[in-house]
Amino acid sequence: MSVTIKAEHQIELMREAGRILAIVHEELAKIIEPGISTYDIDKKGEEIIRSYGCVPSFLNYQGYPASICVSVNEEVVHGIPSRKRILQDGDIVSLDAGVIYKGHHSDAARTHAVGNITREARMLMAVTEQSFFEGIKYAKAGNYLNDISTAIGNYANRLGCGVVRDLAGHGIGTSLHEDPDVFNFPQRHKGLKLRAGMTLAIEPMLTTGTHRVAWLDDDWTVVTRDGSLAAHYENTVLITETGCEILSLRGV
Ligand code: MF3
Ligand code: CO
Repeated sequence: MSVTIKAEHQIELMREAGRILAIVHEELAKIIEPGISTYDIDKKGEEIIRSYGCVPSFLNYQGYPASICVSVNEEVVHGIPSRKRILQDGDIVSLDAGVIYKGHHSDAARTHAVGNITREARMLMAVTEQSFFEGIKYAKAGNYLNDISTAIGNYANRLGCGVVRDLAGHGIGTSLHEDPDVFNFPQRHKGLKLRAGMTLAIEPMLTTGTHRVAWLDDDWTVVTRDGSLAAHYENTVLITETGCEILSLRGV
């Protein structure tokens, strides 16, 4: 598949999908506390998504069994919600959610502290979020995709974090995953030239250890190989002539 340029009416629908997804994350942030199960987070997330007339895009996607990916501590992404997994004081938890509004997708992730967390965990969460913002400084028509990847990866490494290489961000639109791949570390080639109307899910996944990851036996959960902590931060972004618009974030 090739990279798509969205028409104005599609951009309007993606704005609405993103606005709703931002609210989903704001609402879920409020229920994160020690004692809640990852299953409860998923159920609440699905309920909020449907209450806005959206469909959870991850549910049944390639067999994924839930609406929200809930990944705790050394879990990087795609953790499967479970009644048995209870959040504990000191955990960090990454929530990844996707919504479909009138056939148009938005995809975003946040990492939250559960109660009191270590300085190291706090640093990781801050660097992961900031690496996204370092990347989107280059999200502008006329720049190249690798400008974004390089800014994310170099910032994360400079701050001492590992950058997961086996997973990447992606184009997004009428499908959850479109071309191109959006890597979080410098590439050999400058890559695609960015044009206004491209929509990208940019999603750095950082660790307090090395970049190496493994898959659990459930075939979904991605974990750090060294057991170090991982964080994930993602937004759906629209490339414009003058920069970019973060579709899945409000109040910035
Ligand atoms: N943000 C994730 C991604 O871009 C969401 C996919 S999770 C899945 O790949 F469960 F839907 F696969
Ligand atoms: Co994504």
